[in-house]
Amino acid sequence: MSVFPKDFLWGAATASYQVEGAHDADGKGLSNWDVYSHLPGTTYMGTNGDVAADHYHRFKEDVALMAELGMKSYRFSVSWPRLFPKRRGEVNEAGVKFYSDLIDELLKYGIEPMLTMYHWDLPQALQDEIGGWESREIIDAFEGYARLLYERYGDRVKLWATFNETIVFTGLGYLTGMHPPGVKDPKRAIQACHHVFIAHARAVETFRKMGVQGQIGFVNVLQPNDPITNSAEDVKACELAEACFTHWFYDPVLKGEYPAELLAMAQTALGVPVFAPGDAELMKNNICDFIGVNYYKREMVAANYDVDGFEMNTSGQKGSGKELGWKGLFKLVRNPNGRYTDWDWEIYPEGLTDAIMRINKRYGNVPIYITENGLGAKDPIVNGEVLDQPRIDYLREHIQATGEAIKLGADVRGYYPWSFIDLLSWLNGYQKQYGFVYIDQANGLARKKKLSFGWYQDVIRSNGEKL
Ligand code: BG6
Repeated sequence: MSVFPKDFLWGAATASYQVEGAHDADGKGLSNWDVYSHLPGTTYMGTNGDVAADHYHRFKEDVALMAELGMKSYRFSVSWPRLFPKRRGEVNEAGVKFYSDLIDELLKYGIEPMLTMYHWDLPQALQDEIGGWESREIIDAFEGYARLLYERYGDRVKLWATFNETIVFTGLGYLTGMHPPGVKDPKRAIQACHHVFIAHARAVETFRKMGVQGQIGFVNVLQPNDPITNSAEDVKACELAEACFTHWFYDPVLKGEYPAELLAMAQTALGVPVFAPGDAELMKNNICDFIGVNYYKREMVAANYDVDGFEMNTSGQKGSGKELGWKGLFKLVRNPNGRYTDWDWEIYPEGLTDAIMRINKRYGNVPIYITENGLGAKDPIVNGEVLDQPRIDYLREHIQATGEAIKLGADVRGYYPWSFIDLLSWLNGYQKQYGFVYIDQANGLARKKKLSFGWYQDVIRSNGEKL
């Protein structure tokens, strides 16, 4: 008997900027990524999402492949500037129609859409004219955008997520300067992040006021942190890392408040986040229906007396990643006994069981969807076939780890590998592949099923028994 419930949502995920292409088609406005990726030195070898997998023009072919794969659900995101090209004003009906047609196509095959409202592509106009996430004005703008989504798709979409990985787009966007708008300032990062939580709470409130029939959640990175040794310093550093990486991002949406100790630390040291009247109540009254978790790796943590920086491996040259961290607080270090990908991400499936159970312990038995999980690799092509056996091995172990968490009582309702198809990795270009479907760049972006495609087909058919 399968440990997975019979209505378990076996899916796969993508995101608009990474897959759609058509960056200026049919009235779409520019996003922050359309602009940023064209600035010299920002992305791996200047790669960008101008064309990507051209899913915008080929979505029917892609959905047919999803159906062939047997997917029960598809997680995608909407490009905000495709719907609202300018800061204010007219809705771009061609953009609305694209997602409407996509949703209809999915439903035609019985594939449940899971819609993410914000997977990092902000209308550039909102950045230029109001200052993006640093401005409170963005809260109204986001609510207006959410309202349009509910009005146009609320009759067909039942699973909604407001934001994808706030830690990444605010952390890399405002703290390490590696994502747009390229700012490096902890104070600005924390305040921008606060506006995201408030925009989320407002969108949840509107969802409920409008009586949209469905569930609404938030998607976070799920990254368990473990101390590299049992020394008091490392354990303390690790607790702080877990509070910063996990509690700061989960508490506001699942408890409706920030972790008190860390909030006090941030407000004392930096004077942020600044609350406006009503913020605390809004957060408290708009807890999520579910949490989406994106799991790739665990991080080992040590006390940090030397490292101050965030140099990541974006080339796929194993071992080129450096230790990263904040001096005086903590650093992320390599596990000498760990298995690593070519991008120096630790492969640690037990961490998925572990992290789910940590969520379960802290927030109760909240419904969980694994909204991303996957292996980024340069897939070998042998005699024209894409033999991505390491991906199969990675996914198998993580599906087993998900099953373990279900056995322990966690309410896990779906599993969406990243990604359905090969797509753009923000900072790592097209060479970091994740998909079940390969894109032949040299052959007009022709789609080709990888070895993992047939394997996942069997997993879905057997409801997770045949791994
Ligand atoms: C998550 C994002 O951070 O991980 C995806 O939600 C991203 O958009 C994925 O592509 C994998 O990360 P990377 O850096 O390997 O592309």
